[in-house]
Amino acid sequence: MKTLTPAKADLDPIEIASRDEIAGLQLQRLQWSLRHAYDNVPMYKQRFDAAGVHPSDLKSLSDLANFPFTTKNDLRDNYPFGLFAVPRDQIIRLHASSGTTGKPTVVGYTAQDISNWADLVARSLRASGVKRGDMVHNAYGYGLFTGGLGAHYGIERLGATVVPMSGGQTEKQVSLIEDFRPQAIMVTPSYMLNILEEYLRQGLDPRASSLDTAIFGAEPWTNAMRAEIEDAFDMHAVDIYGLSEIMGPGVANECVETKDGLHIWEDHFFPEIIDPVSGDPVADGQTGELVFTTLTKEGLPMIRYRTRDLTRLLPGTARSMRRMEKITGRSDDMIILRGVNVFPTQIEEQVLAANGIAPYFQIELFKSGHMDAMRINVEATPDAAPEDARTAAAHALAVRIKGIVGVSAEVIVHLPGTVERSQGKARRVVDNRPKG
Ligand code: DLL
Repeated sequence: MKTLTPAKADLDPIEIASRDEIAGLQLQRLQWSLRHAYDNVPMYKQRFDAAGVHPSDLKSLSDLANFPFTTKNDLRDNYPFGLFAVPRDQIIRLHASSGTTGKPTVVGYTAQDISNWADLVARSLRASGVKRGDMVHNAYGYGLFTGGLGAHYGIERLGATVVPMSGGQTEKQVSLIEDFRPQAIMVTPSYMLNILEEYLRQGLDPRASSLDTAIFGAEPWTNAMRAEIEDAFDMHAVDIYGLSEIMGPGVANECVETKDGLHIWEDHFFPEIIDPVSGDPVADGQTGELVFTTLTKEGLPMIRYRTRDLTRLLPGTARSMRRMEKITGRSDDMIILRGVNVFPTQIEEQVLAANGIAPYFQIELFKSGHMDAMRINVEATPDAAPEDARTAAAHALAVRIKGIVGVSAEVIVHLPGTVERSQGKARRVVDNRPKG
């Protein structure tokens, strides 16, 4: 694997500033952001007034804990533009996330917001080992999803060449990578597995590809998946995090030289971890729900937005800004099976560690009598397709999952090529339990 260490001289000075300097900037920006939200968004004014807090009460960063939370429902209730803090004609871009039910969540950006976003994606790319003049194959979906365009503007801002491929058309993805020879790819890790499969189908050697680094995000993925893909392509894989309500991709990114969790770009976003039940902030190092307050967003300021993503905050390493550990999962995706909490990432780790099983899986929930039950659908690698080999692999994986994750799950090892492939964000859980 090629060594990729970003030059210190190329970093934004704030990335390696002292903690005091970062905290000072955060306090000043937080005071601005609270005032901006309070003065321009009726919902924030009502909420702050009802809670008996005013932006001028924020004297230190810890005072933020006195302010009320914002949730996805608040965006839905104010659909489409009710939380915008500037007149509609100052919004130069809209994005939306589809959501599973009802109306989409709509977000809007001023020209300054779009520029800050491009800067932060450029910073994320640099942390991932991408340099000015490199070429980046962008396979995040273009359109209302923030992935494609968010990455696109950042690649251009860095001064790299963008290949705006978007998602889908896997055969074409491979031929463009082979013909254009990009140094980097931006894509969901689950879709990268499709690209890998297509490489093998065409008889090409993925380790001989031009790719030095991959910037994976938009869905949870494990270090086991990192090892699998890094080895298959002989390249680095780093984690990029973001969500449309806060900005899009580039809220936090891992550094390629350490790969030890994602540095949160704390000059633009203030992170907190809370106990998801009580809502109380917990200390750095403890796991809980990630909450963000935007520090510079003009179009759609978000005050204490509950992401539902579970992680913990760790001190800075390669950068002074704090890290968040790789996301375990969303509280919405947590499966509670006979009293045991299970995240799809825990199943991913075991699937990837198993012999004779390909790295694709889907978890199915169903009722067995009155009890909830879990079935894990995986498929055999081509060399382990005979029925007796599949039965043995299924048994071994079920034993592993029982022993390590602590749940009894039925495992079915299907024939190669039968488990649903991801087209972007993977659908890890299919809930077939009767509703209501
Ligand atoms: O997925 C933005 C994005 C695009 C991030 C491309 C990275 C790369 P949404 O569609 O609003 O935005 O979904 C946000 O996706 O709350 C997490 O649950 C999940 N997610 C995003 N990045 C990661 C990651 C984009 N690196 C939701 N690890 C978030 C785990 C992630 N989960």
